[in-house]
Amino acid sequence: MKPLPGFRDFLPNDYARRDYITSHWRDAARRFGFVEFDGPMLESAELYEKKNSGGEILTQLYQFHDRGDRPVALRPEMTPTLARMVGMHHRTFAKPLRWFSIGNCFRYERQQRGRLREFLQFNCDLLGERSPAADAEVITLLIHLLKSFGFGPKDFVIRLSDRLVWQHFLEQHGIPSDKMTELLAIIDKIEREPEERTKEKLAACSSVLSLRRIHEFMSNPEDSALAPLLSELSSRGVREYVQPDLSIVRGLAYYTGIVFEAFALHGGLRAIAGGGRYDNLIYHLSDGAASLPAVGFGMGDAVLLEFLKSVPLAASQEEKYINAQRPCQIYLIIADETYRNETVALASELREKGWRILFSLSPERVGKQFGAAQDAGATLAIVIGAEWPVMKVKQLSTREETEMSRDALFQRLDSLFHA
Ligand code: HAM
Repeated sequence: MKPLPGFRDFLPNDYARRDYITSHWRDAARRFGFVEFDGPMLESAELYEKKNSGGEILTQLYQFHDRGDRPVALRPEMTPTLARMVGMHHRTFAKPLRWFSIGNCFRYERQQRGRLREFLQFNCDLLGERSPAADAEVITLLIHLLKSFGFGPKDFVIRLSDRLVWQHFLEQHGIPSDKMTELLAIIDKIEREPEERTKEKLAACSSVLSLRRIHEFMSNPEDSALAPLLSELSSRGVREYVQPDLSIVRGLAYYTGIVFEAFALHGGLRAIAGGGRYDNLIYHLSDGAASLPAVGFGMGDAVLLEFLKSVPLAASQEEKYINAQRPCQIYLIIADETYRNETVALASELREKGWRILFSLSPERVGKQFGAAQDAGATLAIVIGAEWPVMKVKQLSTREETEMSRDALFQRLDSLFHA
């Protein structure tokens, strides 16, 4: 039986790739002083209602009633959980908070490349700070992270916009504030939907706003609103990766200011990451008990896996990491079964010292054991036989062989390994 569509099994090789990604996520977040948190995967369905996540996500919820008849949902994203937690506990923490998380999220999505129904999402959020410096820190973190995977300015771009700029534009056209979210959702989809469909939706929403007028506005990005942030990004040395672009408005309802998305410049992939400022969500979710400005982004593992495959430098860096994680450093070869007990005891001692050790569990030809050592990626093979307690230590890459006693082995193991 296969897993459900959009869900994945992780065989050891797939898990190694996932580990590669999560280790980079953690490194980048920690470099910027972020600390890790987690929350429940199942939440009250109410948490994702219209004024919170809103938008398309509501139609993609894995939603059901639990045995106590509570309406619940598997989390489709982390931000509402984070906002709920911070609303409850923020008094215990010095501001600003810099929190990151790595957790599974669930969306009943239409199948496409890099979009799944269960995925791993990395989130970085900075809470309790309103200045553009906070926005810049979060965006710079995202750029450093992508660079650490081996991607450069020819591979990706961060498209940056500001919902306030759109809000002013819509206000100028007499759009009432309760229509704002609906219009932003239409604008968010302009690139992905047929023009006719967009025109129909626009006409149903507003009699004054035409698609032509929206295109005109987008093609003249009035980026003065973004100037302070762009200058912060220049100081951090990452300005070349950022492109002001008003076509980015983001599908989620809670964004209140800047919004951004990271895109691959080749391969026709969907966004690699997306985020923005959401200054009212914590207030809403805590019924006014707490109010904290916030900015952050989320990144899924699925698009990233596709993107890693498509850039040779990034792919070779990944392969190197995965090779270094192989299951065995030293393979003990039993050339004479009389010495099996001695070998097993030696394995235990070496493992206690922290080495990754394998040996064959039943009698095998020596040639076959060498083959198994190669397959497991061992650096050294140690042959134990009639000369015990003297052993043959062989570097598998160079075939170089040295005879040594047990004591000498323990003294020299570190240096042998780094030879
Ligand atoms: P989002 O744009 O919905 O934003 O998702 C962020 C990223 O999660 C996407 O760019 C993509 O990499 C990944 N992602 C989303 N849906 C899927 C899917 N079905 N399959 C695979 N990957 C997916 C949010 O979720 C916001 N909560 C981000 C945020 C954090 N904003 C502020 N803080």
